[in-house]
Amino acid sequence: MAEPLVRIFDTTLRDGEQSPGVSLNLHEKLEIARQLARLGVDIIEAGFPIASPGEMAAVQAIAAEVRGPVICALARTRRGDIDAAAQALRTAERARIHTFTSGSRVHLEHMLRLTEDQALEMAVDAVRYARKFTDDVEFSAQDVARADPAFLVRLYAAAVDAGASTINVPDTVGYSTPGEFAGIVGFLRERAEDLNPDVIVSVHTHDDLGLAVANALAGVEAGALQIECAVNGIGERAGNCALEEVVMALLTRRDHYGRAVAVRTEELYRTSRLVSKLSGMVVQPNKAVVGANAFAHEAGIHQDGVLKERSTYEIMRPEDVGVPETRLVLGKHSGRHALRERLTALGYGLGEAEFARAFERFKELADKKRGISDADLAAIVQAEVVAAAPEVYRLEYFQVTAGNTTVPTATVRVALLRSLSGADAGGGPGPVRGDACAAVQESATGDGPVDAVYRAIDRAVGREFRLDDYALRAVTGDKDAIGEVTIRLSDASGRTATALGASTDVIEASARAYMAAVNKLCGMPEARPGTEAAALAAGERQV
Ligand code: KIV
Ligand code: ZN
Repeated sequence: MAEPLVRIFDTTLRDGEQSPGVSLNLHEKLEIARQLARLGVDIIEAGFPIASPGEMAAVQAIAAEVRGPVICALARTRRGDIDAAAQALRTAERARIHTFTSGSRVHLEHMLRLTEDQALEMAVDAVRYARKFTDDVEFSAQDVARADPAFLVRLYAAAVDAGASTINVPDTVGYSTPGEFAGIVGFLRERAEDLNPDVIVSVHTHDDLGLAVANALAGVEAGALQIECAVNGIGERAGNCALEEVVMALLTRRDHYGRAVAVRTEELYRTSRLVSKLSGMVVQPNKAVVGANAFAHEAGIHQDGVLKERSTYEIMRPEDVGVPETRLVLGKHSGRHALRERLTALGYGLGEAEFARAFERFKELADKKRGISDADLAAIVQAEVVAAAPEVYRLEYFQVTAGNTTVPTATVRVALLRSLSGADAGGGPGPVRGDACAAVQESATGDGPVDAVYRAIDRAVGREFRLDDYALRAVTGDKDAIGEVTIRLSDASGRTATALGASTDVIEASARAYMAAVNKLCGMPEARPGTEAAALAAGERQV
């Protein structure tokens, strides 16, 4: 008999986007949703449409374009929320409305200011109302781990009775332990199945105690057939159950769990990189499955073992999760054909213009670095081709003087490629605004060389930006490794952009990332209060 399928419900774009400091724009959300469809998740929770016009627009765009997974929208147990969710999902191939309340007294009394009976009544009304728009209705009660089990049974039974086809059991604050959580899930599942044997029980776990994946797996052992998770485990506070970890645990230990998963695991690494780049949330090197060290063997005894027989120290193969093999085959004598083949093997199907850009950067890199690995190539192409915004400004060159006895000073030359209008032109007396193809040179000093370059760029474009986050990682372990810089930048009107830069020179990588973020901000619509852009800029969302 075939093993029961555990559905993967991805909430990267909803709960994941609630990570502090993360704000994805519509274009970025669509790109992630397309990749999630390629990955083969069963359900994409695309957003919370009532939260802002930007959320509404993003869910609408995903529902209209992305085919394959069910597209889900979140709604509180209020008719207005459900109307917004239904409207956002109108063009979805398959639509799910996910309505939620809270189960614990602390949430009901202090946050929702509802009695248990009022919460239950609203839940029943919300599920019934959502069923008018779709048969696929999911119901959740936040904070089950701290709730009274007797109330939970009443609440979930009422939701199933009202027509919920999936009941989701969230450990909202990451408080539970695997044994305890399995108990709650098993208990609720038995009572729900008495009412509707086809109901799907889902688990939604948070990582406050580092137990999100363990708790989700315990839920599966107690009969859950859906796991809610986010790529790289991003999300509120310590995050959500990490999709790549829970999927690989289920598959690697299929002998133990006896469950199937429909995800195409070879897409996991690429999905992780994309989410990391667009969210600006850097993946720690020792992160399970997708971290830079996940398949690296340092100790001599381990290396020896792996060389003799991989399974001595590897329980998964890097190729199973799509980690690019490090093969030092490309160098400065490699031509277009070799590069095209390598990029195709890495899964990058680039158009002519994109390929030309990739080739140009490859040649620049090959002049500086002897052997170019797949990881190097992926870093450059992802940063400067796939995730690049259309150029408004181009950094023509930069020069830096730095050292422990000098004040760091940078000179940059920046060209304006497209003329700007209105607020995007900045407002200050910038020297290049409005002059298509004009270029300007500026210098600045700073606390360090990167700071000096950033100040000089601000001067050159005639605007000041705020650097909200900066992270640097080495793509490989060598001394001549490529440095990959991820930054988050915001402007005076509160719009934020995340961008990447990659180079063997970390100052150049930093400058490239900054320029890319500036280009993204300059390409965004003006954030007037009440507009979609303002909502996106403010990253309005709630739960
Ligand atoms: O953590 C939580 O409880 C949630 C719900 C909306 C499912 O995210
Ligand atoms: Zn959550």
